[in-house]
Amino acid sequence: MCGIIGFTGSKEAQNILLDGLQKLEYRGYDSAGIAFFKDNGSHVSIRKTAGKVDDLRAICDEENNSTCGIGHTRWATHGGVTNANAHPHKFGNVTLIHNGIIENYHELIEKYNLKGQLKSDTDSEIAAAVIDAHYDGDPKEAIKAAVKELKGAFAFCVLFKGHPGEVYAIRNVSPMVASYAAGAGAFIASDITAFIEYTNRYFVLPEYHLLTMKEDGIFLENLSGQAVEPEFMTVDWDVTTAQKGGYPYFMIKEIHEEPTALANTINPRISDLLPDFSADEVPDSLFAGVKDITIIACGTAMYAGNVGGAFIRNKLGIPVTVAIASEFRYERPTISKDTLVIVASQSGETIDTLEALKLAKQYTDRTLSIVNVKGSSIARESHHVLYTHGGPEIAVASTKAYSVQVAVLYLVACKLGLVNNSLNEADVRDFISDLRNIPSMVEELLNQEDKIARQADRMANATDAFFIGRGLDYSLSMEGALKLKEISYIHAEAYAAGELKHGTISLITDGTPVIAIATQQNVYGKVVSNIREVKARGAYVILLSKDKVITDNTICDVHFSLPAVRDELTVFESAVILQILAYYTSLGKGNNPDQPRNLAKSVTVE
Ligand code: M6R
Repeated sequence: MCGIIGFTGSKEAQNILLDGLQKLEYRGYDSAGIAFFKDNGSHVSIRKTAGKVDDLRAICDEENNSTCGIGHTRWATHGGVTNANAHPHKFGNVTLIHNGIIENYHELIEKYNLKGQLKSDTDSEIAAAVIDAHYDGDPKEAIKAAVKELKGAFAFCVLFKGHPGEVYAIRNVSPMVASYAAGAGAFIASDITAFIEYTNRYFVLPEYHLLTMKEDGIFLENLSGQAVEPEFMTVDWDVTTAQKGGYPYFMIKEIHEEPTALANTINPRISDLLPDFSADEVPDSLFAGVKDITIIACGTAMYAGNVGGAFIRNKLGIPVTVAIASEFRYERPTISKDTLVIVASQSGETIDTLEALKLAKQYTDRTLSIVNVKGSSIARESHHVLYTHGGPEIAVASTKAYSVQVAVLYLVACKLGLVNNSLNEADVRDFISDLRNIPSMVEELLNQEDKIARQADRMANATDAFFIGRGLDYSLSMEGALKLKEISYIHAEAYAAGELKHGTISLITDGTPVIAIATQQNVYGKVVSNIREVKARGAYVILLSKDKVITDNTICDVHFSLPAVRDELTVFESAVILQILAYYTSLGKGNNPDQPRNLAKSVTVE
């Protein structure tokens, strides 16, 4: 959470910082600020405000020829959303921006006698004070000494008065990537989208390594002062991928990218209609003799795990546990060396998922992550990685990442079945041949966007909504409910359709929207009976099924017909309808679907 950027080079810094912050705004949008060297470096100036990057832009000078600075967009943790709590924070000679949480800030206030000297309620200002306390003219030594005293997660970019043109950076846990682009200068940021316009090469700043950035180059060293060679990576997308490309919001753009994201994720992993992870360097031995599976994730990634987990259980008949990462960390793990632990994360930086993965590694050498962001912490921490090739996902509400995670889990299921002889090649080939058609089916569904949008007005007036289904449709319902509530602020719940009459049906009154998903043939009749039960109590039913038409108005008020695919694959189709429904409902309520209140894309605090 929080987006940070630093730049020094031959170009004017202000717009690089502001434009970069705009790209990082998905990480937090409570307040924003920049700091830059002024008057030939004799002092550091700050502009900051509660609000969004546009509000910050409005208070920045039109002309600013400084070529070195740092910028921050905040998701509040310590201290409310105020101008004073916005970053950067200045203390003495030190000006810094921070992402993370300093856990021992109370002790540090005492130790450095800071009471009465602080201008904000943040833990970050205390970090600035500690660095300043260690500063006697040598920025590197001050930072090295200070971080030894800090407990918690941090990513810092620091400017020192009297050191114009220099940005110093260090991190523990909280992510930062950096690069040097000839002709422009040195960049550092929470993620590469902030500076992709200048270079597609970057390296992940290793933990507890100090980066010195100057106009003519960068220098990476460990805490003992030994030089370390950065490990550069390249992203295979460019600046246009991280822009809205004519769409009003990233969320709807990313929904429209699902066919491509699915094709890019599935196709390179198929050879001769069988799953092939050799290009990912994931060996078959990882899957041999696996007795059970634990899937660990948070939010949407966890709901993708629910779908994948249900699929694996039914297809292979092996036990699968889907664990919420923040719970898994504090429970007694039930995994052994024969457990395959699958960790799913779009960002690869979700702190609970990362820590849960570290815990799981104490019990098994079989960890596999499904991650979208190349080189992210979770990808680096796990024994093996299958990257989803979704491209950057900027909207806070995850959409294409969900679909590609499910697709990878399906491929993993096929691989597990083949390696352990619980599936035969002919059946897998049939399945994969259908899976390959899914991108075009999803494309076809996108034609129903207008019809889905027309439901938004009715949805926008609701205070509650229910999502029901059985089997895979129930697993998918959870994601449908999350999507609706996080961007429309309508209370939404998912229920196994058969479970409603054990309590929740008492909440159904005249006009309550119920989104019913009935695509699984083995329980189709049962779901229809459950739908009739809510319909009889006045629910407004939106039905998703594979029926071409439904004429019986005792079943539903609106019907979305899904292109015919095998039952296990309808989830890709239904997901898109539910995402579009949530998007237009959010718009109908006058919300910004890309930046829902109180949220941030990447949850890097516990
Ligand atoms: O980056 P991750 O996939 O680990 O993120 C996990 C959740 O924070 C994320 O899916 C969140 O639930 C989304 N806002 C849902 O749309």
